[in-house]
Amino acid sequence: MPIPKAELHLHIEGTLEPELAFALAARNDVDLPYADTEELRKAYLFDDLQSFLDLYYGLMAVLRTEADFADLADAYLARAAAQGVRHAEIFFDPQAHLARGVPLATVIDGLSRALDRSEERHGVSTRLIMCFLRDQSAESAMETLRAAEPHLDRIIGVGLDSAEVGHPPAKFKEVYEAAAALGLRLVAHAGEEGPPAYITEALDVLRVERVDHGLRCMEDPELVERLVRERVPLTLCPLSNVRLRAIDVLEEHPLARMMDAGLLCTINSDDPAYFGGYVDDTFHAVREALGIDQERLRTLARNSFEAAFLDRDAADEAL
Ligand code: HPA
Ligand code: ZN
Repeated sequence: MPIPKAELHLHIEGTLEPELAFALAARNDVDLPYADTEELRKAYLFDDLQSFLDLYYGLMAVLRTEADFADLADAYLARAAAQGVRHAEIFFDPQAHLARGVPLATVIDGLSRALDRSEERHGVSTRLIMCFLRDQSAESAMETLRAAEPHLDRIIGVGLDSAEVGHPPAKFKEVYEAAAALGLRLVAHAGEEGPPAYITEALDVLRVERVDHGLRCMEDPELVERLVRERVPLTLCPLSNVRLRAIDVLEEHPLARMMDAGLLCTINSDDPAYFGGYVDDTFHAVREALGIDQERLRTLARNSFEAAFLDRDAADEAL
């Protein structure tokens, strides 16, 4: 039995498995530039975040209707349940769909169709976090936030993803202030490829409650001390870090050192269809590669509920 856990760093578009991508391409009459699933899988050799993002945004062409988004999310939730996930806080990238002419309501209503049935079908509670693409303008992010206002009953918070370097958090200060004023929870990717200063900026300027990745904090001991002191959760994604070459091999991942330092670490799958495993696969992989023992795996699972946007009683119950 996999350890019960929460998944806090998961891009729903990153759960698009090649088989589903081809099925949706056929359903929607979309031409894919790959002969078959095998050829598509062979393209999953990435040099960095950008080379992954190019393929990831390209494959989204198959997602067009509410049913597509519902099928995508339902497939993830079924897999997540089998991996011991009891609660999932799911990112989605509205701007990537709006740019292709897919309305926000189609995305949110489709995802919600699967999410609303998730507790009953899969035993997984869910929340949605809307991410802004940081390589697009702050104006575009603000327009996206405004467009989401009629759907705020379905969105618990906002995040920031896509190409990090050259797009520091401060660019989105006003958008995050507006999101906070709407009562939304705040997270952001920082310190995946970007420098530790981006983590500090996400905390000080965007006022995020949780840092997605945060890997490069280890280069700044004062920042580590602060993250420990303020008990800021980090949503690490070790398999992603290897596939996107932030780390050469999993054996060199700093997870164990980060836990030793007292950081509130969680481990997550990021884009599991692309990075070679879902979240319990990640638990297994870090045990094998880093010698993280059972007690520490339990700590990681406990941390995931502490870091979740659940009230205390719900988190205790899930444990
Ligand atoms: N980093 C930044 N943006 C992303 C990622 C990631 O790992 N996955 C999907 N969008
Ligand atoms: Zn991510």
